Amino acid sequence: MSERASEPSGLGERASEPSALRERAGEPSGLGERASEPSGGRALLEIRDLVAGYGVAQVLHGVSLEVGRGETVAVLGPNGAGKSTLLRAIFQTCRVQGGSITMDGQDVRAVADYQVATLGIAHVPEGRGLFPELTVTQNLVLGGLKFGSRAVIGERIERVVETFPRLKDRRQQVVGTMSGGEQQMVAIGRALMSEPRVLLLDEPSLGLAPQVVETIFAELRSLAASDAGLSVLIVEQRVQEALDMCSRGYVMQGGEIVFSGTTETLRGDAAMTSAFFGDTVPAEGER
Ligand SMILES: Nc1ncnc2c1ncn2[C@@H]1O[C@H](COP(=O)(O)OP(=O)(O)O)[C@@H](O)[C@H]1O
Ligand SMILES: [Mg+2]
Repeated sequence: MSERASEPSGLGERASEPSALRERAGEPSGLGERASEPSGGRALLEIRDLVAGYGVAQVLHGVSLEVGRGETVAVLGPNGAGKSTLLRAIFQTCRVQGGSITMDGQDVRAVADYQVATLGIAHVPEGRGLFPELTVTQNLVLGGLKFGSRAVIGERIERVVETFPRLKDRRQQVVGTMSGGEQQMVAIGRALMSEPRVLLLDEPSLGLAPQVVETIFAELRSLAASDAGLSVLIVEQRVQEALDMCSRGYVMQGGEIVFSGTTETLRGDAAMTSAFFGDTVPAEGER
């Protein structure tokens, strides 16, 4: 496990020891020292030494990561690693206790939690968070309410159903009567209603049948490819599918980043794969 730490390339480098991370919390973070940097200079979303949790419980113990413009980045790791908490912390829906979150140079922690979406961040939460008794259109409208007039919202709905053609003829369908895959499309569509620049996706494949998982990932890959400006931070337990749509990834365990690198490095690291996912990736059809 530890041999890789001395590799000079910076790819596949182990993150600092947890204690070291905590000690560094007060220091300014040097741009040059990171394990893997997105290309194109300053990242769109920058997270430094993030400490977050629920009430007095601390779940994230100093997490640093970044997402470049147009980049799709994976966050992998076993159950309970803190992946969902990380996305909630970015979207300000759990308690952020320390560190910094910067979106295009703006301090996310300085805005009210209900205003985070206006910075260009959208969150598709674990479990989707839809209103099952409302129709597809009503759910989509709720995702766009803050962002414009009726006409603008109407245009955005059109764009969402172009992105997810399966929703086109189902706009008046009550969401609770739809399949899991279709509901996931509504959840992603609702997030797109705010025209985000960073999309935070929490386990979009959770609870879906294998062939539906394929459909969702195909839709996500084409979404990322069709909008070159859209950045995606995706949390997944389906490692292969997530790596297929990403150029880089981070591995979390125990509320810390324990590994980061290119998808090639992550794919190739058998020790990492078995250590973190050997027993946690459900077999096909298990979900
Ligand atoms: N709402 C909550 N209140 C208190 N503790 C929570 C809450 N949600 C998650 N946790 C705890 O935070 C830790 C990380 O959970 P989570 O971020 O959901 O992990 P992951 O998404 O990687 O499975 C777990 O120990 C979990 O029990
Ligand atoms: Mg989770």
